[in-house]
Amino acid sequence: MAALLIVIQIFTGLLLKFHYVPSPEGAYNSIHNIDESLLFGRLARNIHHWSAILLLWITFLHMLRVLFTGAYRKPRHATWIFGMILLILVILSNFTGYLLPWDQLSYWAVTVVTSLLQYIPVIGGYLKDSLLGGQEVGSATLSNFFNLHTGVIPLAIIILMGYHFWRIRRAGGVIVPESEKENPMVDTHPNLVYREFVVAVALIAFLLVISVLFDAPIRERANPSFSPNPAKAPWYFMGLQELLLHFHPFFVIVVFPLTLIIGSIWLPYIKMNDSNAGIWFLSDKGKKAGIFAATAGFFFSVLFLLLSEFLPDSEKVLPSVPALITTGLIPFILLIGTKYLFLRFLQVRLSLNRSEFIQTILIILVTSYTVLSIIGILFRGKGMNLIWPWQI
Ligand code: HEM
Ligand code: HEM
Repeated sequence: MAALLIVIQIFTGLLLKFHYVPSPEGAYNSIHNIDESLLFGRLARNIHHWSAILLLWITFLHMLRVLFTGAYRKPRHATWIFGMILLILVILSNFTGYLLPWDQLSYWAVTVVTSLLQYIPVIGGYLKDSLLGGQEVGSATLSNFFNLHTGVIPLAIIILMGYHFWRIRRAGGVIVPESEKENPMVDTHPNLVYREFVVAVALIAFLLVISVLFDAPIRERANPSFSPNPAKAPWYFMGLQELLLHFHPFFVIVVFPLTLIIGSIWLPYIKMNDSNAGIWFLSDKGKKAGIFAATAGFFFSVLFLLLSEFLPDSEKVLPSVPALITTGLIPFILLIGTKYLFLRFLQVRLSLNRSEFIQTILIILVTSYTVLSIIGILFRGKGMNLIWPWQI
């Protein structure tokens, strides 16, 4: 599905490119022209928009499938690591595409996200200025994003996808549980080919229905001197924007992502003491632990957000201590420490093996990011204050 969606993105993207004008003066009108005056223009744009969102979801779900079935272990370690790069590229293609309509939504979302780059020590300022082509989002930024979006990133995705597929074949195909290894083999054609064909037709039909029923949004033309309140990041970065309200930016932009990246690269090399490759949950206690981890992820995150919202500001309570410690290290230890201790407790209590323990870490992380994103998207209003969704 992910591969097919990428082909659809390239095809519809190339069509859009015939009429899209990558300049601040021309971009917004060209989108209106595509929507209003071109035969099937609106449909092509809608497909490009919805398929981009679907691609992000499917790539993410594919990554979860790989994680849950332990398919990241050797000999699939390189498939896993290059898969992570593919995921980053899919996020980047979504993000660079986001700016292209040049409306208020896209302009300010990109301003919010790129301004975070400056918190990366040493290279942050340089990185931000290079990406923006100046101090703020402007014509050079649009041109950079357009070239990345329609050239560099798709090319990198195509090359890495080829490598990804080659590695899968080299590892002997997809992972199969030990118990099924003795099953008789069947021919690829028609067994696999027909199934893939049906999935492809169903996916295309679904995408067409969604694209006919729901239009890709377009707001007023971008106005650099008027910032909407609240100015929100694209939905997939809202969890990060929500975290920023509670943590020092250095932790949100550097410590959290770096921990995740190092953890992901390290994962295939962790010694496992089980043989549950290819199986979603090894045992009933593994499933039980998964449910506990999801519940804990939900409650710990909500509790942490409420405490951080309603307790006095730690910077004001301890003015002499650097903010990096009061709003960075202390909440980091509190949040990560409590979750980790809880999972260790689960591990001992349910005598989970290492791969089940890793599954609980994964579940708690995914639930926590989901809670953060939902709160950021639905429960934040003017000045990023907490509100009820119907008050937006
Ligand atoms: C993985 C592949 C891709 C993803 C995820 C992606 C994603 C996006 C997104 C999210 C937008 C903003 C759409 C909107 O809401 O209006 C966009 C716009 C655009 N994309 Fe892509 N894109 C991809 C590949 C391509 C390719 C290969 C091209 C061309 C060669 C392309 C050309 C365009 C153009 C011209 C626009 C501006 C028109 C518009 O906003 O509708 N895209 N893309
Ligand atoms: C553009 C995005 C991607 C495409 C098109 C893609 C495509 C595929 C396909 C077709 C397979 C074989 C069938 C299957 O397992 O469903 C596969 C397997 C695999 N993918 Fe991806 N993938 C993408 C992203 C990722 C990501 C983000 C990861 C992990 C971070 C990943 C890691 C793997 C691994 C480890 C396998 C081997 C699984 C096994 O042997 O069971 N891929 N990929």
